[in-house]
Amino acid sequence: MKNNDSSPILIFVLGFILLSFIQCKEEKYENVQPLQNTWDFAIPNQELPEGIASLSSKQCGVCHQTHYNEWKLSTHAQAWTDKQFQAELKKETSPFMCINCHIPLQNQQEYIIKGLIDGDIYKPIKELNPKFDYELQQEGINCASCHVRDGAIIGPTGTTKAPHKTVKDTEHLSRNLCISCHNVVAVITPDLVCSFETGDEWKDGPYFGKKDCKTCHMEPITREIVPGYGERLSHLHYFAGSGIPKIDTLATKILNGLVIYPSELKAKHSINDSITYSLTVKNELAGHRVPTGDPERFFLISFQLKNEKEEIVSEKTDRIGEHWVWHPEAKKLSDNNFYPNEERTFNFSYLASEKGIFTLYVAVTKHRLSKEHADYNKLEKDYPLFITIFKESYITHLK
Ligand code: HEC
Ligand code: HEC
Ligand code: HEC
Ligand code: HEC
Ligand code: HEC
Repeated sequence: MKNNDSSPILIFVLGFILLSFIQCKEEKYENVQPLQNTWDFAIPNQELPEGIASLSSKQCGVCHQTHYNEWKLSTHAQAWTDKQFQAELKKETSPFMCINCHIPLQNQQEYIIKGLIDGDIYKPIKELNPKFDYELQQEGINCASCHVRDGAIIGPTGTTKAPHKTVKDTEHLSRNLCISCHNVVAVITPDLVCSFETGDEWKDGPYFGKKDCKTCHMEPITREIVPGYGERLSHLHYFAGSGIPKIDTLATKILNGLVIYPSELKAKHSINDSITYSLTVKNELAGHRVPTGDPERFFLISFQLKNEKEEIVSEKTDRIGEHWVWHPEAKKLSDNNFYPNEERTFNFSYLASEKGIFTLYVAVTKHRLSKEHADYNKLEKDYPLFITIFKESYITHLK
C-alpha cells in the first residue's frame, strides 16, 4: 500500500469538496419538499434479470411471441405514443407526474425527480437518469412494467423451465396491480383533477369476490407460452377495453358492457297516428360502471325518424356519461353512467301529422372523447373518436 500515508488527507479533501457541494446544492434550493403521493413516484430503475438481454418487450417477444403480439395491440402499448397523451403532456399545465402511470418504470424516464422546490409540482428537482432507455420509453406500459422487479421476472408459478430468473408472486400479479393505476381520485391543481374510479366501482359492485379485472380483461386460455415448452395455463394479453381504436389501422379486441334489447316498432292507426319504439339497455357484462375511468368517455343513444323525402321529421339523443366544468375549478356536475346490472329504457314516440312511409334509424355509439376536445388537442382527423355498437333501421307505413 504505497499511498497509505496520504489517504487520510485525500479523504479529508474529498470530504470537504463533497460537503461544500452539498451545501452549495442546499443553498440553491432552500425549501425542498419530498415527493408524497404514490403517483409521484416511478418504479425505481430495474436491473436486468439474469438470463435476459434487455428489458424491452421486443426482447421478451423473441420467446413469448403470442404475448408480445397481443400486448402490441393493447392501449397499454400506446400509453406513451398516444397522440392525445402527447398533446396533453406538452401543455404547461401538465405536471411531472403525468408520466408515472404511462411509462411507469424509472428506466423509461429521462429524469429522476428528487423533490419539489417549495412543494410546487411545477418546480421538480430533476437529475439526469443514467439508466434512461429511449426504446423502453416508446413501449409505454410494457412487459417489464408489470413483470420485472428486484432483478427477477415475476410470474404466477415461479417455473424453473425459464432461462431467466423467475420469482412467484401472485399477490403482485393480481387486481392490485391494475387498481394501482386504474383508481386515482386526486385534486392536483384547482383545474387539474384525476378521476379514475374503476377499482372502487368494482369493489362496490356485485362482482367483488366473484370476478375481478383479470377474469374479464385477461381471459384464461390453455396454450404454450414459449413454443416447444408444452401447454399450460395462460392469459390473453390484449387488455381489451371499449375497443375504440387508437389509430385507424389498429384493430383491438372489443369488450362491450352494454347489452341492447330493441323493441318492435309500433305504429298506431287511430285518431292520431303515432309511432313508438323503445330500446332497453343493460350493463350486463362490465364489472364496474359503464362508461368507466376516463371522465371524457360517453355513449350516445340516438333516434332519427325520416320521411319518404329523407327529411328528418323527429329526432332524439340521450347521452350517458359525466359532465364536468374544468375552469376555474374542476367540478363534476353530473353523472348518469350505468351501474353494474343496471337497466334503463329509452323511449321514442312521434305523433304523425302526415301519412306515408317512415324510417326510424336507431344507433348506440361509444365515444373516446368529444369532437370539440379532439379539436382543442389538435388531434388529426384520422384519430378515431367513436365506434357504433348498435345500428338498426325500421320502416313503417302510415296510411
Ligand atoms: C395514477 C395513474 C395515472 C396518472 C398519474 C395519469 N394517468 Fe393518464 N391515464 C391513466 C389511466 C388508468 C388511463 C386510462 C383510463 C381509462 O381508459 O379508463 C389514462 C388515460 C389517459 C389518456 C388517454 C385518454 C383516452 O381517451 O384514451 C390521456 C390523454 C391521459 N391519461 C393523460 C394524462 C395526463 C395529462 C396526466 C397528468 C395530468 C395523466 N394522464 C396522469 C392513469 C394515469
Ligand atoms: C430466451 C427466451 C425467453 C426470453 C427472452 C424471455 N422469456 Fe420468459 N420464459 C421463457 C421460458 C422458456 C419460460 C417457461 C415456459 C413454460 O413455463 O412453459 C418463461 C416463463 C416466463 C413467465 C412465467 C413465469 C411463471 O412464474 O410461470 C413469465 C411471466 C415470463 N417468462 C416473462 C418474460 C418477460 C417479461 C420477458 C422479457 C423481459 C421474458 N419472459 C423473456 C423464455 C423466455
Ligand atoms: C402502470 C399503470 C397501469 C397498470 C399497472 C395497468 N394499467 Fe391499464 N391502462 C393504464 C393506462 C395509462 C391506460 C390508457 C392508455 C392510453 O389510453 O393511452 C390503460 C388502459 C387500459 C385499458 C383499455 C382502456 C382503453 O382505452 O381501451 C384496459 C381495459 C386496462 N387498462 C385494464 C388493465 C388491467 C386489467 C390491468 C391489470 C392486469 C391494468 N390495466 C394495469 C395504466 C395501467
Ligand atoms: C365482469 C367483467 C369485468 C370485470 C370484473 C372488470 N371489467 Fe373492466 N370492463 C368490462 C367490460 C365488458 C368493459 C367494456 C365497457 C364498454 O365500453 O362497453 C370494461 C371496460 C373497462 C375499462 C374502460 C376501457 C375503455 O376503453 O374505456 C377499463 C379501464 C377497465 N374495464 C378496467 C377494469 C379494472 C381495473 C377492473 C378491476 C378493478 C375491471 N375492469 C373489472 C368487464 C369487466
Ligand atoms: C398490465 C400488466 C401486464 C403487462 C403489461 C404484461 N403482463 Fe404478462 N401477466 C400479467 C398478469 C397479471 C399475469 C398473471 C396472470 C395470472 O396467472 O393470474 C401475467 C402472466 C404472464 C405470463 C404467464 C402465462 C400467462 O399467460 O398467464 C407470461 C409468460 C407473461 N405474462 C408474459 C408477458 C409478456 C411477454 C408481456 C409483454 C409483451 C407481458 N406479459 C405484459 C400482467 C401483465
